[in-house]
Formats: sequence, structure tokens, C-alpha cells
Amino acid sequence: MTRTLGVCYYPEHWPEDRWADDAARMARLGLTHVRIGEFAWSRLEPKRGAYDFDWLRRAIDTLHAAGLKVVLGTPTATPPKWLVDEMPDMLPVGADGMVRKFGSRRHYDFSHDGYLEECKRITLALAKAFGAHPGVSAWQTDNEYDCHNTTLSYSAAAQSGFRAWLQRKYQSPDALNRAWGNVFWSMEVAEFDEIELPNLTVTEANPAHAMDFRRFASEMVVRFNRAQADIIRTHSPGRDVIHNFMGRTLAFDHFDVGADLDISSWDSYPLGFLEDRSDQNDDWKRQFARAGDPDFQAFHHDLYRATSRGRWWVMEQQPGPVNWAPHNPAPRDGMVRLWSWEAFAHGAETVSYFRWRQAPFAQEQMHAGLLRPDSAEAEGFAEVARVAREMHDLEGKLDDKTGRAEVAIVFDYASSWAWEIQPQGREFDYFRLVFEFYRTMRRLGLSVDIVPASAPDLEGYRIIAIPGLFTWTPALIAAIRAHQGFTLIGPRSGSKTADFAIPAALAPALPKDIVDVEVSRVESLRQDSPVHLAEGGSFQYWREFLEAGSGTETILTAEDGVPGMVAQDKHRYLGGWPDQSLLYDIILRLADHAGLAIKELPDGVRLRRHGDHVFAFNYGATAFDLSVLGWTGTPLLGDLILQPSGVAVMPVSRAGCQTHDPREHS
Ligand code: GAL
Repeated sequence: MTRTLGVCYYPEHWPEDRWADDAARMARLGLTHVRIGEFAWSRLEPKRGAYDFDWLRRAIDTLHAAGLKVVLGTPTATPPKWLVDEMPDMLPVGADGMVRKFGSRRHYDFSHDGYLEECKRITLALAKAFGAHPGVSAWQTDNEYDCHNTTLSYSAAAQSGFRAWLQRKYQSPDALNRAWGNVFWSMEVAEFDEIELPNLTVTEANPAHAMDFRRFASEMVVRFNRAQADIIRTHSPGRDVIHNFMGRTLAFDHFDVGADLDISSWDSYPLGFLEDRSDQNDDWKRQFARAGDPDFQAFHHDLYRATSRGRWWVMEQQPGPVNWAPHNPAPRDGMVRLWSWEAFAHGAETVSYFRWRQAPFAQEQMHAGLLRPDSAEAEGFAEVARVAREMHDLEGKLDDKTGRAEVAIVFDYASSWAWEIQPQGREFDYFRLVFEFYRTMRRLGLSVDIVPASAPDLEGYRIIAIPGLFTWTPALIAAIRAHQGFTLIGPRSGSKTADFAIPAALAPALPKDIVDVEVSRVESLRQDSPVHLAEGGSFQYWREFLEAGSGTETILTAEDGVPGMVAQDKHRYLGGWPDQSLLYDIILRLADHAGLAIKELPDGVRLRRHGDHVFAFNYGATAFDLSVLGWTGTPLLGDLILQPSGVAVMPVSRAGCQTHDPREHS
């Protein structure tokens, strides 16, 4: 595998006589890929059927002539005004029943059949025109599905699509009434056409109803993407089909969309995300304001690598301040370089920066590019040049494959929908729960893989964590049974049936030979009222009352004597949301039993194993001596003293990573 760099470029934003210069400069910088076209519909088809592809052909020719490989975007995230005026019911409708208007982007409803046909038409026209162009090496479908909360739409199109979907799923209204429990509050329906969308109800809608709507909406995204992917594959053979996902975006199942992609990519804006999407407190945000959260990027790298069977990119990498977070600081010197190397450490093939030149006009005029609006180099430029040089120097010295991590976490989009629909306690957020497990594993120096609940391959992992899983799949149960390593299950895992009801056997509804435990009741807790455990630490937000079977051993006990965690052979069931230090202790002990080499790391320092090498990254503001972790000799890249924003790479044999024999079960 060769690692490559790229950039996002908008030829339609600049006079044509600049294109060749821009292209030559990109190539000189060491970039090899350039993504274009994803918002250009109004220029590609100014009026229905009046295609104007000549300028795009000239742009692709120019980039190609400079040796660049083009990733061509389909422009379907920005339907032009004439199209919206022809078909106003394609506009998305918010949960408040208000139509979202033309004038920005993503103004369409995934379930609108007419808009889907229009997208197929423009995709087909582009694929026929450019599919065989030697300069086009890949395609990007649309842009950032769900950006600006656009998966869920409560339009007439959604309503009729949802009814048809329910009819296919349940066959009869009676079956639906039974599955949803519609006898409750007289919600029974006699016809599928009586079913409304689950918004604007007087109080909450039936969770089973809301859950099916989430499933339907997710399938609409999959359908939309697949329609484009199929056309591109037919007319542009040999080119990769890519989509660019976002950070902490859970509204559709990315594993399902990823199944239709050759490469998953995502758009990584570490500083924007820290301000905008982090659950951490202000101290943490202040500490990492110019570096980003030390685990957030890594989590998404690992997640999206799993969605497309290993091949993945960063399609948009933050190069300087963005424009869309509450505050938009500049990255600390060296961070653009660090983020780039971190992506490669997690197996990225390509890191592509957003964007080439800052646009002086319109919504994103305050968003940095690699160039300033006056075409002078902006802050990120020199860092990209350095990454390109370092990549050149390390050519052939790093492994091609990321390899399997030591531990894994099961991640499941449906679980995030379920707990959003029914949090039961304000703080119960699925992403947050999973992310806390992920962060804790990384604080112990572990590399982590993410595994989907739908198709879990647990082979070889020493520990599998399954927090907050909505419902079991037979595949996951079978995989747990066959798993040789440890499992850490709960809280709240297996607490519902697929129909969003409480299982007859009560949670966690696991076969007794896996863990013989029953959750007899649960409570959610005020933030200021944790439940303390006899062994130290506490459960916050959520705790369960466990009734443990005779084959289990109680490992943690709440102050009131209720078991908090039980063990059966290599399986653990955790009956609460552990505070940070408790979770740390739980995973530390498990890692020790599993024979893993543990490295207790400060907040800002993180490690990632990549094949036979280990990468170290310093998000923190103070230097860190890697020799305290057992690193010896000269790193392949960087120094043993890891400066703030520093990156170092060491062969595993000299990074003190030997695992030891698993200890006997305690
Ligand atoms: C992304 C999007 C880009 C641009 C960028 C700004 O979410 O895909 O088009 O808007 O954010 O940071």
C-alpha cells in the first residue's frame, strides 16, 4: 500500500486561468489526489437537460496533466433551484413539521422517489461522461450523509414510504399492533395507511414506532447511496466508490452504507469537534483547544475502517481554523502533521485536506484552506509539505496492513437510536458510553478495533467490550460463545427485544452458560447522586439490580449490598455506568488477566500499533519521555522525548510491547 495525500478543490470557484497553476502547486507540495465536483450541480446542469460538462472536462484534464488523480463527487447534496421549484415536495421536513428551504445545502429528502430518480440521472450522465477518463481514479457519492441532521425527515414522501416499508415488514396491521404493543393507549390501527410519522404527537410516540422509523430512515440512506454506487460501478469500472462520513453521526447505519463502498472515508475536524461534539468538561476543552480530543479522531478512524472491510481515507482534514464551531481556534503548530500521521497509523490510505484555497465569499469564507484567499501559503501548508517529505523518507519501511488490535468494542447504530428514543435518564447516551470504554482502553496504551454487532468477527481479541447493546443478534451470541478471550458486557446490554420490548427472561437475556445473571430492575441517577461501590468508585447515571446465578462470582458490590458486576468464566456483566476511575480499574484488571502489556499514559499521549510498528502521539502541552514505556533506541520517526504535537514511530520489538501469559481467572 502506498500512502498518499490529497486535497479538496473547487475549480468552479476560481478563474480557469488559475487551474493549471493550482494543479502544479498541488503536485509540488506532494499531493497526488484531488477531490472535486461534489457541489457543482448548478454549473453542470444550469437548466433541466442542458448539461454543461465542458468546464469539468477541462478541469479534470488540467489536474490529470499535472499528474493528479481525481476523485469526482456526484453533486447530489446540492440540488439546484430549478429542480427544487419543479419538485418542491422533495424538500426535507423537520420534526416540527416545518419545511426546510432552499439556500444552503442538503435540502432533500432521502425517501423522495422523484429526487432519487433525478440523482440517478445526473450520476449516470456524469459516469458516462467521465467514467473512463484516465484522470478519474475514484468517485465520492454525494457529500456527508446526515450533515445538518438530514437523515430524518417528516415529509409526505417519508410518510408514504414508511407505510409501504411497514407493510413489507409486518404484512398485516394486526402483526404490527402486536409487535408494537399498540393496545397500550388505544394506538391500534386497522390499515397501514392509518400510521403516522412519530413526530408532533402530544407526548412521546411509542418507542417501537419511533425505532421502526429510524430503521426505515437509515435504509433510505442506504438505498440512496446504493443507487449511485451501482451506476458508477457499471460505467466507471475499476474506480473506487467512496463516501465521506462525519464525526459522531449516528442517524444511519454506516456499516450498511459501507457495505456498498470500496472505501469509507470521513471528514476529520478535530478542533471543531472538540468544541461542538464533545461531552468533556470545560477544563478538558481548554487543555486540548488547539490539539483536539486525543481519542476522538482515533475512534472514528477505527470505526470507519471497520465499515468498509479495512480500506479507508480521511477525505477532509482540518488544515487551520474552521468556521462552524462555537469558537474556532487555530491548531497548535505541528497538529496538522500529527493528525495526518495518526490517520496513517490507523491504516488510512489517503489523507486529503479541506480545502486548497480559502474562499473569500459565501458561507465558508472564514474557513481556512492550505492557501489563504490571496493564494499565499496558510499555516497548514508547511506541515503538509513536511508530512509529504516524511512519507517519502519512510517509503517501504512501514507495514501495509494495520493488523488486528488486541481488544475490540462492539458498536451498533441501532443501539444509539434506541437509547436516544428511550434514554430513561438524561445522561444515557450510547456514543458517550462506548467512547468512554474506548478512551479508557487507550489510556492503558491499547489499540482498539471496532466490530459491528451484525457481523461480529471476534477471532483473536483478548477482550471484547459490549456496552449498551440494544438487542442481541444470534450471530453475536454465537461469536461470544466461540470467543476465547474475555468479554465485558453491559450496562444495559440485551435489555430489549428487536420489537423494543423487555425480554421475557429480563435483561441481559443471555444464555445461562454465558452469564447467568438477571437484571431485576434498573434506576437512572441524577448527576450529583452516584451509587458508591464497596470496592471504591461509583456508578453514575445508571445502575442495575443484579440477581446473580449460582455459577457466577460477584466482583463488585454496591454499598447497599447489590451486586454491581459478576463474572462467569471469562465473561463479565457490568450492572451500571462506571465513573472514569472505576472503568479504568475494571479494564486494567481485565487487561492484566488477559496478559496484555499495559502502558498507563497521561491524558495527552496515545499509542497505536500498526503492523510491526507502534506510533506515539502527543496531544498534550508537555513533553513525554517514551523510554518510560520501555522504548529503546532511535525511533524511525521522531525522538524518544515526544514533544507537544510530536509523533514517533518505533518497531514493536523496541517499544516494550511484549504481552505476557494470561493470568489465571481471579
Ligand atoms: C464538511 C463538509 C465540507 C465543508 C467542511 C467545512 O462537513 O463536507 O463541504 O463544509 O465541512 O469544515
